[in-house]
Amino acid sequence: MSRLRIYNATIVTPEGRNALKGSEMTTGVKRVPDAEIVIEDGVITAIGPSRGNLGDSADIDAKGRVVVPGFVDSHTHPVFGGWRPEEFGWRLRGDSYMSIMNRGGGIVSTMRATREATEEVLRAKTLALLDRAATMGVTTMEAKSGYGLDLDSELLQLQVIASLSADPSTPVTLTSTFLGAHAVPPEWAGNPDGYIDYIISDVLPRVKEKGLAESVDIFCEEGVFSVEQSRRLLKAAREMGFTLKIHADEIVTTGGAELAAELGALSADHLLHASDAGIDALARSGVVATLLPLTAFTLREPFARARQMIDSGCAVALATDLNPGSCCSGSIPLTFALACIYMNMSIEEAITAMTLNGAAAIGRADTIGSIEVGKRGDIVMLDADTPDFLPYFTGMNIVAMTVNGGRVVYDNRAAKIVIK
Ligand code: NIG
Ligand code: FE
Repeated sequence: MSRLRIYNATIVTPEGRNALKGSEMTTGVKRVPDAEIVIEDGVITAIGPSRGNLGDSADIDAKGRVVVPGFVDSHTHPVFGGWRPEEFGWRLRGDSYMSIMNRGGGIVSTMRATREATEEVLRAKTLALLDRAATMGVTTMEAKSGYGLDLDSELLQLQVIASLSADPSTPVTLTSTFLGAHAVPPEWAGNPDGYIDYIISDVLPRVKEKGLAESVDIFCEEGVFSVEQSRRLLKAAREMGFTLKIHADEIVTTGGAELAAELGALSADHLLHASDAGIDALARSGVVATLLPLTAFTLREPFARARQMIDSGCAVALATDLNPGSCCSGSIPLTFALACIYMNMSIEEAITAMTLNGAAAIGRADTIGSIEVGKRGDIVMLDADTPDFLPYFTGMNIVAMTVNGGRVVYDNRAAKIVIK
């Protein structure tokens, strides 16, 4: 049996097995000083007052540091060929994300590079991103396909996720989302309806049969896939037993948030331009509003209205959107900073959004997202005695140790910047 005991810890965690909504995102967060956590065979089996040093050299002295649940990055696109730094330069000079996409760049440019890449190259590149995420406290990451845009290349991307997921040395637990409807590929140019039909008839059944994804997502956006096309695909996916996610109201208001509520999606993501009615629909339905501040920041778009969403009773999650185009960042420190500084979220709300609500956004709130007996032993130790350091250490990593399922996957306690 494997066993890990962390003592002299200050536990800061949301509690529960469902997303926390509205004011619960603050009131549901518990702070327990002088505590210890026991993890056995990957699962938290005891939490109680710290008994201090019991002479077992395998035990870890947190020295009063804060421990929070492992961060859940519930929206990423980490499997892709190539990079797109030239587009970043174009955007700095005034080009828009959609104008680059409309002239054949953007997602389709990464599609070309991904179709040319081998499985080994895609795997190595993705693993490098996961290694980096683990240093920032990410213990679970939702990974989307969406750069293959045909049967074989989409399956290959999902296969890379499955292969990393099956490897016990991978530092981050993965969940897999099929995003074949990320853009209209050149073979279907001018015929988005035909491409949606193809996905429904030829691709989704194969993804299901091979067990390669649990969720299906779509880029519901003006000039990409309409609300009607999104509804058609997502309803078909739901009938096949997939859970649903939507890139909604990212660039313009389309009603993607309302669609997510109508279909009972796990989450509606981005929401920079969600309408008041869309926000109300999310609050009433309990669909998690997944906000991606790094994307708004890098695209110089307005931030999503997190304050209004939480005050309306929504369950808000935060994620990075890590991808080679709109947001080439998986920075958890910067996500915390932007959420608190620009989106007016409190530190408790941001922690809930990055842990339990992120878990709910991928259908995992019953097993991860909080430090509670029975949940998986996914823990982040901060080099700090207060969680205020998460946004205060602005854009800089304050993680001292990351524990995934009771296994230490990153240890930087020797840095001793704050806690000596
Ligand atoms: O979430 N908007 C659609 N998908 C990604 C961007 C993907 C890309 O630019 O490669 C997003 O922003
Ligand atoms: Fe995205």
